[in-house]
Amino acid sequence: EDKSLPAPVRIKLDDTDPAKIKLGNGSDVKGTRVRVFGRVHRERRQKEVMFITLRDGYGFMQVIFTGPLAKTYDAITLTRETSMEILGELREVPAGAHAPNSRELHADYFKIHPGCKAAGGDDAITNRVSKDTEHATLLDLRHLTLRGENSSKVLIVRDAVEHAFHVVYKDLRMRKVSPPALVQTQVEGGATLFKFNYYNEDAYLTQSSQLYLETCLPSMGDVYCIEKSFRAEKSLTRRHLAEYSHVEGELDFITFEDLLEHLELLMCRVLEETMSDPLIKQYVMELNPEFQMPERPFMRMKYTEAIDWLVEHEIPNEDGEPHKFGDDIAEAAERKMTDAINRPIFLTHFPAEIKAFYMPKDKDDPRVTESVDCLMPGVGEIVGGSMRIHDYDELMEAFKRVDIDPTPYYWYTDQRKYGSSPHGGYGLGLERFLAWLCKQHTVRDCCLYPRYFGRCKP
Ligand code: 4AD
Repeated sequence: EDKSLPAPVRIKLDDTDPAKIKLGNGSDVKGTRVRVFGRVHRERRQKEVMFITLRDGYGFMQVIFTGPLAKTYDAITLTRETSMEILGELREVPAGAHAPNSRELHADYFKIHPGCKAAGGDDAITNRVSKDTEHATLLDLRHLTLRGENSSKVLIVRDAVEHAFHVVYKDLRMRKVSPPALVQTQVEGGATLFKFNYYNEDAYLTQSSQLYLETCLPSMGDVYCIEKSFRAEKSLTRRHLAEYSHVEGELDFITFEDLLEHLELLMCRVLEETMSDPLIKQYVMELNPEFQMPERPFMRMKYTEAIDWLVEHEIPNEDGEPHKFGDDIAEAAERKMTDAINRPIFLTHFPAEIKAFYMPKDKDDPRVTESVDCLMPGVGEIVGGSMRIHDYDELMEAFKRVDIDPTPYYWYTDQRKYGSSPHGGYGLGLERFLAWLCKQHTVRDCCLYPRYFGRCKP
C-alpha cells in the first residue's frame, strides 16, 4: 500500500457506520481515492490489464488492475468469488465503454485476506454451478445459486416489499403482533397440518395466525403480522410451499366491502412504496419488464360468475366435466381464467362447503359466504380473506358442520362471548405476491431456502 497517496475516502452509509464502503455508492466521488470490499463476480484478462467486476450485495463495481498489480501472484491466480479489499481511484468510464454506475476503480493496491481465496480448479464455483447443472443439484446448491444476479435481485426486492408492508401498515395505523407458531388448533383444514409431539401432547405448526389476530382486536385495534405459516402440502406445484411467509391483517368493525377496499389500497400502496426506491424499481423492471401498476378498483367477480365464465370458455373441472356450483375451482382452471382476464380479480362469495368454517353466510344468498380470493395473472390466488362469524351460536353451528371439536378453541369462541364485533381479515402469501411482481415461474425462487414436499435442505 502506497502511504504517500491521498488517504482513501470512506463513503459513509450513515454516521454510525463510518467504515463501510458499499459498491452501490460512489458515483458521486469520481476522481477520489476509495477503499472497497467485495467478491469477484467476474474477471477478464486483456494483455497487461485485468478487469474485475466486484460484487457486495449493494451493487457492482468495475475494477482495473494495470502494471505490476496485474502481474502479482494473487492477481494471476485470482478465482471467482474470492473476497478482496481494493484501494484505488474512481474514474468515469471512457466514452463508449460501459460499467456499473458508469465508473471504474483504477486500483493501486489490493489485498486478499488469508483464508478468503475462493476454491479454483475442479472445485471452482463455475464448475459447480453452471447452465448445465442438473436441476436437483442446483436446488441442493441454493447457498451458491443465491449469489446469481436474478436470485439476489428477487431476494433484495423481497426485503423491500416486506419493509413496504410495515411502512404501509403503520400509515394505516395497524399494530404488529407476533402470534405463536406452535399451536393446538387448525385454521385451514386437517389435511395440511404438520403434527408433532409437544411434551407428550399433540400440537401443530400453525397454518395461519388469523384466529390469534382476531383475539387482539379488543385490546389493540386493527392488527397485522408477518409470520411463517406451515402447510403439509403433499404435491409439487409452482405455488405451494410447506413453509411460507404469511402477511395477515385483521380489521375491526368493518363490512365486507370495507375489507375489499382495504386490500386494494394495501396492495397498491405497498407496490408504490416498493417502487419508490429507484434501485428496487430497476430490479423489478429487469425481472419483469412488462410490470404495470394495477388499476383500482380491482375487478370484482362473484364465484357464480366465475363458474359461468369457466363453462362458457369450456374449461373443465378436475373430473373433466363442465364446472358447476359447488366445485372448488382448481389451480389450473383458476390460472387459465386469471391469465385470460389478465388483471387482478377479487373473486368473492364462495359456497360455504368449499371454504373454512369461520366464514359467515351472505345475507342475500345464504348458499355463499362473505369471502374473497385475490387472483393475479401468472400466479392465481395470492390472497385469501373473509368476514368472520361473530355470533357465538352461529360459530358453534359452524364447528358442528365441519365436525371440529370446539373445546380447544375456547379462547377463540370466548371472543364471541365478550364483546363480539363484525370483523374480517385476510392472509397474503408473500412468495406468491413476489412471484407475480418479479415474474418468477415458481414461489420457490421467491424465498431464501424453500421448503416443500420432499425438500428440507439446505
Ligand atoms: O387462503 P388461505 O389458506 O387463508 C388463510 O390461511 C386465512 N386464515 C388467512 C387469514 O384470513 N388471515 O391462505 C392465504 C394465502 C393464500 O392466498 C396464499 O397466497 C398463501 O396464503 N398460501 C400459500 N403460499 C405458499 N404455499 C402454500 N402452501 C400456501 N398456502 C396458502
